[in-house]
Amino acid sequence: MAYKHAVTIEEALRSSGTVTVKGWVFRKRELKDKIFVVLRDSTGIMQLVFSRGTDAFYIAQRLNIESSLVATGVIKDEPRAPGGRELHVQSVDWYYVGHPYPINEDAAQADSEYLLDVRHLWLRSRKMQAVMKIRHTIFGAIHEYFRSRGYYEVQGPMFITAAVEGGATLFKVPYFDEQVYLTQSSQFYLEALIFSLEKVYTIAPSFRAEPSRTRRHLTEFWHAEAEMAWYHLDDLMRVNEELVSYIVSKVLDERSEELRLLGRKLEPLENIKPPFYRVSYDEAIEMLKRKGVKIEWGDDLGADEERLLTLQFDKPIQLYGFPEKTKAFYHRNDPQRPEITLSVDVLAPEGYGEIIGGGERIYDESELVSKIERFGLNPKDYQWYIDLRRYGSVPHSGFGLGVDRVVMWIAGLDHIRDAVPFPRDIRRIYP
Ligand code: 4AD
Ligand code: MG
Repeated sequence: MAYKHAVTIEEALRSSGTVTVKGWVFRKRELKDKIFVVLRDSTGIMQLVFSRGTDAFYIAQRLNIESSLVATGVIKDEPRAPGGRELHVQSVDWYYVGHPYPINEDAAQADSEYLLDVRHLWLRSRKMQAVMKIRHTIFGAIHEYFRSRGYYEVQGPMFITAAVEGGATLFKVPYFDEQVYLTQSSQFYLEALIFSLEKVYTIAPSFRAEPSRTRRHLTEFWHAEAEMAWYHLDDLMRVNEELVSYIVSKVLDERSEELRLLGRKLEPLENIKPPFYRVSYDEAIEMLKRKGVKIEWGDDLGADEERLLTLQFDKPIQLYGFPEKTKAFYHRNDPQRPEITLSVDVLAPEGYGEIIGGGERIYDESELVSKIERFGLNPKDYQWYIDLRRYGSVPHSGFGLGVDRVVMWIAGLDHIRDAVPFPRDIRRIYP
């Protein structure tokens, strides 16, 4: 590593005497005899002061926003500088001026399409840096949660031959002489693995040919999925609320500074602890009708309905018992009330809505075959999945959590694309 003696900006702000720092120009202000450069690295920002008459001053004059440099100087207290200290530069040890930076934060914010075009550069912004740190903590928390509770991490294939979540959102891919699809969910492969490992999870991309641009849909998203042998709906709901609470508490512990930088209110997050509210689909329909929404029993809930529901609660809702036709074929029907399924969605509060979908799976062979037929699908396409029910089948449950949606909610973002470094949707596949 070059400049081994250099310290991070975070460390520099806590040091005294002579230090070397390295990073990128975040801001620059030129006075007659002094140049103030705010330097940015992955740990923070700090003010550098260059004084006329030094070689360093003439280099500083040439620096652009986002020019890179390594500089050595003396730390001094300065209450007006970010972090309360600044570095009086004695030498510039290395630098790269580059071109004038094409993002002017004030102008750029007004045009988010432009920021998406230059996303490869916009990732350097304080906002995206904070979001990506929160995202990092969330992925870590999911792994920690499952691994500390006896789940095995597994991986399913991305190329598949039959729909998991319905044919409408399948991406077709040429595959030698055949046509295959990109997976919408690793669920079926996780189901196969429970017969070996009992409790399994994966964090993987899922793909959906979502035809519309919304605040919460991507065509490629990160999906944390788990599947548990012997678990019923109630066991599943406990996992849902424990996992979500664990993720939130981890972010509050490790990323409060980033949340503050994003202007995220902390109180709604501090409230996220089990148990969550449990609301049946039937009750939800009644609540919505009372709010004047035109909706009938049997209708699916969209983003607007979910938003209305969540605004009535101060914690996530576990919405359970959806009608058969609103959920994919693999959901087990309630033996007491066959018109509904033993399914559950978790809706994040503050209007965010669905972050988890899951439920009990059909474990009986003939029940599964007849439901596949009832849904107008061909059992031949699901042969291996049906096969799992032919040998030692057991009750089991599982769920999928949309990681990008969780990042969006926890970071308090307006749009899911800001939760992902390189978002993909119907109109965007660059950069
Ligand atoms: O509700 P979904 O479609 O359920 C499944 O795919 C199940 N097979 C999961 C399982 O039980 N293993 O998707 C699960 C979650 C949603 O709740 C949502 O958070 C997220 O995945 N999701 C999306 N996130 C971003 N963009 C999209 N287009 C998404 N579609 C689903
Ligand atoms: Mg869903």
